[in-house]
Amino acid sequence: MTEKLPYHAKETNTKKSYSNFFILIICCVLGISCYVVSKSTPFEKGQILLQASNPDSLCPIVEKVDFSKFVRDNSTVDRILHDERFRNGSIEKLLGAVRYPTEIYDEMIHPEEAASLDELYKAEPKWKVFEKFQKYLEKTFPQVHGKLKLDIVNSFGLVYTWEGSVPEKKPIILAAHYDVVPVQTETISQWTFPPYEGGYDGKHLYGRGVSDCKDLLIALLETAEILLNEKKFEPQRTIIFAFGYDEEASGSGAQHISEHLLKKYGPNSILQIIDEGTSGFEETEGVNLILPATGEKGYVDSIIELYTPGGHSSVPPKHTSIGILAKLISDIEDEDFESVITNANPVLNQLQCLAEHSPLIDKNIKKDILKAHLDADANKAVLKYLNKTPESRFLVTTSQAVDLISGGVKSNALPEHASVLVNHRIAVEDSVESTTQKILRQVRDEAKKFDLGVIFEGQMVRELTPNGYFNYSLREALEPAPVTPMGDEIWNLFGGSLRYHYENLIFPNESKEYIFAPSLSTGNTDTKSYWDLTRNIFRYAPGIPTTKSNIHSVDERVDFDGHLSIIAFYYNYLQVVDHLAQ
Ligand SMILES: *[C@@H]1O[C@H](CO)[C@@H](O)[C@H](O)[C@H]1NC(C)=O
Ligand SMILES: *[C@@H]1O[C@H](CO)[C@@H](O)[C@H](O)[C@H]1NC(C)=O
Ligand SMILES: *[C@@H]1O[C@H](CO)[C@@H](O)[C@H](O)[C@H]1NC(C)=O
Ligand SMILES: *[C@@H]1O[C@H](CO)[C@@H](O)[C@H](O)[C@H]1NC(C)=O
Ligand SMILES: [Zn+2]
Repeated sequence: MTEKLPYHAKETNTKKSYSNFFILIICCVLGISCYVVSKSTPFEKGQILLQASNPDSLCPIVEKVDFSKFVRDNSTVDRILHDERFRNGSIEKLLGAVRYPTEIYDEMIHPEEAASLDELYKAEPKWKVFEKFQKYLEKTFPQVHGKLKLDIVNSFGLVYTWEGSVPEKKPIILAAHYDVVPVQTETISQWTFPPYEGGYDGKHLYGRGVSDCKDLLIALLETAEILLNEKKFEPQRTIIFAFGYDEEASGSGAQHISEHLLKKYGPNSILQIIDEGTSGFEETEGVNLILPATGEKGYVDSIIELYTPGGHSSVPPKHTSIGILAKLISDIEDEDFESVITNANPVLNQLQCLAEHSPLIDKNIKKDILKAHLDADANKAVLKYLNKTPESRFLVTTSQAVDLISGGVKSNALPEHASVLVNHRIAVEDSVESTTQKILRQVRDEAKKFDLGVIFEGQMVRELTPNGYFNYSLREALEPAPVTPMGDEIWNLFGGSLRYHYENLIFPNESKEYIFAPSLSTGNTDTKSYWDLTRNIFRYAPGIPTTKSNIHSVDERVDFDGHLSIIAFYYNYLQVVDHLAQ
């Protein structure tokens, strides 16, 4: 889900060039007092030191959170990352998970539509494997299933609760989903290993769903299993694992999970939610960027139908409903949505981070980026720069894609009905309203030209005429996600922990500094149902970049070191985040 931006590298070396960042106000979050001093707090005090933002920087580097102050024994992480027996066991667990083809289809009977599970399986046998997958988890993670409370929400949503001892501390939610995109049977022969058998080639583990996102789900449960086995960590903060079952079909599973959690904990009751999203980090222009998605574009389908009188095709009007609709489609495509970039969009903050910290970025674009929020010409230049590739272009504009069309029934009958579906992904600065207003304006213009009526969402907005009418309706409307705040306590703790993870544990010999920066996802995850639980939503997994992860495609795979990296990170992070006061 990472959206790569086009960068203009002048050199290809990646030497570290930024000087260290300033003297910082260091605030201890857990203690009562706030100092303006230096380093280390002893572990015994259980304090977390986080830096406040440097007011002069658009992208202050978060301070590393030293795990050794919170995790007494680092031999476990060493074992997770480097022990061959652990690795072998972990490979087996993930391969086992791959062997349940939990395929989800767009057109499936939903669990809530059946009176019982038996009825559901009768009507839709594809769900049976979802229950088998649950049984597999039970067998594979006995500690988790013995000690955590499992609520099964709407038949297949899995919510595990590891109750903390301090009810005042806000719970943390770690999310994933276990449904996978179906494999097209015609492609099976192209796989290195059969997609639902899986395989390991010494570096990558293959199988449908391994990178989206059974690796994350299994890694989270492995982490909990280790911590429970060790019996050293007794959380004060409640830890919740929330696993959806129909993410790939944009289903209602996460909505049910969300309602369950809202009923139990209330709105805005959760410290932080971390779900699938971007992975690891990205090396660009001489910097390593850790880029959790802190926003998601919105979504809406415009369905425009046109009804006109029928008749024999030997005496046709100049334009049939199909012809008129074709003109409308052509007008829609000719007029793009405007490109906009403001501070509301995480993409601008991401660029600012790059501009401030990259030693290689082109000087002119750097200057423009750093004042794009203040200066109209600079803003225009940045938009021009982003418009160069489709990947970055659609981070700053609402998209329109004409995806479905139908009309007419017979060669000798005039079409009385034609329809089109236009899919939109809504930019952060836009809304469902502003998106549909543009399309509605164009529908009305077309209606005026051909003297037709217009109905929009059940309301008549232009008088019907004998010539017919447009019927414009919306489906699946979703506003752009609220953007996760930057620079607060959670931001600094999560970013600082990731820095320590990569700089000290994963690549201890590289002495590279990692920049924690926001990003925007053009797709949606299960978190689209979780907005009411917290503003602190991060779509990100602490893996290692895989050159070709082939998500949703042939030979989907993960770098297995990345899988171990996720386990190691959460082993530490769950212990660290436990200390935060909120
Ligand atoms: C683990 O702890 C030992 C002893 O405290 C220390 O020397 C070592 O650097 C630590 N290893 C890591 C990877 O942090
Ligand atoms: C791990 O698995 C590999 C491949 O099956 C095997 O050669 C190796 O001996 C195993 N290592 C351990 C410590 O079990
Ligand atoms: C317009 O479309 C909506 C959605 O498909 C449908 O429910 C409604 O009946 C249609 N109205 C007319 C007058 O065609
Ligand atoms: C890192 O350096 C240490 C000692 O300096 C060495 O033992 C270790 O093998 C190195 N690790 C990697 C991954 O290169
Ligand atoms: Zn996914």
